[in-house]
Amino acid sequence: MSNSSSGEMSRLFLPPINRAMRKLDPSFFQKTIPLTAAHVLDGRNIPKVTKECAKDLLRVPRLRSVITQKDDAGEERRLLLMKPEVKHDDLSTVQPKTREFVEQKIIELEPYTLHMKYENWNYEEIMSAILPEDLGEIPCGFTQAGHLAHLNLREHTLPYKHLIATVLLDKNPNISTVVNKIEDVGTGSVYRTFPMELLAGEDNTNVEVRESGCVFRFDFAKVYWNSRLGNEHERIFKQFKPGEAVADVMAGVGPFAIPAAKQRVFVYANDLNPESYKSLVDNIKINKVSQFLTPHNLDGANFIRESIRALLSRSRNTSTNKVSIPTPGRRGQKPPPPPTVIPMPPTFSHFVMNLPASATTFLGAFRGAYRGLEDVITGQEMLPMIHVYTFHKAPVTENAAGDICADISRHLGHEMREGDLVNLENVRLVAPSKTYYCVSFRLPASVAFEDTQGT
Ligand SMILES: C[S@@+](CC[C@H](N)C(=O)[O-])C[C@H]1O[C@@H](n2cnc3c(N)ncnc32)[C@H](O)[C@@H]1O
Repeated sequence: MSNSSSGEMSRLFLPPINRAMRKLDPSFFQKTIPLTAAHVLDGRNIPKVTKECAKDLLRVPRLRSVITQKDDAGEERRLLLMKPEVKHDDLSTVQPKTREFVEQKIIELEPYTLHMKYENWNYEEIMSAILPEDLGEIPCGFTQAGHLAHLNLREHTLPYKHLIATVLLDKNPNISTVVNKIEDVGTGSVYRTFPMELLAGEDNTNVEVRESGCVFRFDFAKVYWNSRLGNEHERIFKQFKPGEAVADVMAGVGPFAIPAAKQRVFVYANDLNPESYKSLVDNIKINKVSQFLTPHNLDGANFIRESIRALLSRSRNTSTNKVSIPTPGRRGQKPPPPPTVIPMPPTFSHFVMNLPASATTFLGAFRGAYRGLEDVITGQEMLPMIHVYTFHKAPVTENAAGDICADISRHLGHEMREGDLVNLENVRLVAPSKTYYCVSFRLPASVAFEDTQGT
């Protein structure tokens, strides 16, 4: 079959068009298509006929081409739907093999009326039948958090927002709430949340999401969550080793912190948003990581300074400086095997700072943060690796590293060169002129021990 006739055929199976529809009316989407069916007289021949008459059989996505009917006597009849150009009363319209089967009475060709309805078409097909042709691409991108789909519709598609959301809801059985971002997160939103409106489905923004083998419960409308960051979270927490201590300065609901604690890393996790803190506390319980994870609800700069001292004093307190994990033994084993004891280290190996719009401005909190601890920090490698997130104007080919180093240097009060960075990760392009980076570097000793009293 030529491309143009296959194009015509697929058009035949598209839904009817109604560009005036503003409220979804599923009953409008009906179509009756006269076809031919091959009645396979002995059901056991279905595989043979399907294989050998393949060129004559109907192939339309999501449409079953094998139909089971009951005849007047209640006996089952099996029909194979044929392509539209096959005519039941004209054997010149079929391939030789089909003709042979008709002549051998393996099949009989008969008229068949195909009824298509709303359920037979997917989201794109229905929306293409409703939205104006000059609208451009059908808006089909959304991010999902549990049962909630989150759209970020462009201005010109807003008149169709309810239609878009309703069809999306109908066509994705695991989604029951569809919301749209009303405004950009912008720099004004301290907690990185954004106003949203419910477009379709139940008014419930309390979601449950699984990431990295952990469960996260939170209110999507009140905290920050980005389902696109799963790989980035994993890239970072995989760098932590069991028994190390790590501080997550802007932890949100815990997507770095909870999986890290699950792999027996001691985590101090912090978020200024009381709602994030609340969900973090819940998620610690849900994921059973309370032995390894300590939550905080402080401003990031205070947290950086306080956590360094708090960890050190906890590691020196014999009643709090270790975690004992029972070792599973044989049933009734006496005495039971000794527990695995994991001691708490005196210093953090990593700090994570994921607040890209302003995280570098918190770096100043490291200036002099280790002053007086020179006897504890016995080597450069005892100073933490810092993973700080930042935005840079795209395109990526521009001198991002140079600009980012200049920004970091300003806040650390210490010149950082490109060669001082351990890694510069291009996380993703968030807008045509905005790239999201993660910069990793070891805290320089001169910054850690700086005498800030005199400045
Ligand atoms: C981009 S989100 C990242 C959350 C989490 N780390 C993640 O990857 O999903 C930034 C977080 O920083 C928190 N935040 C904003 N200002 C803060 C501050 N001054 N101190 C601590 N946390 C802050 C926000 O509430 C938000 O949860």
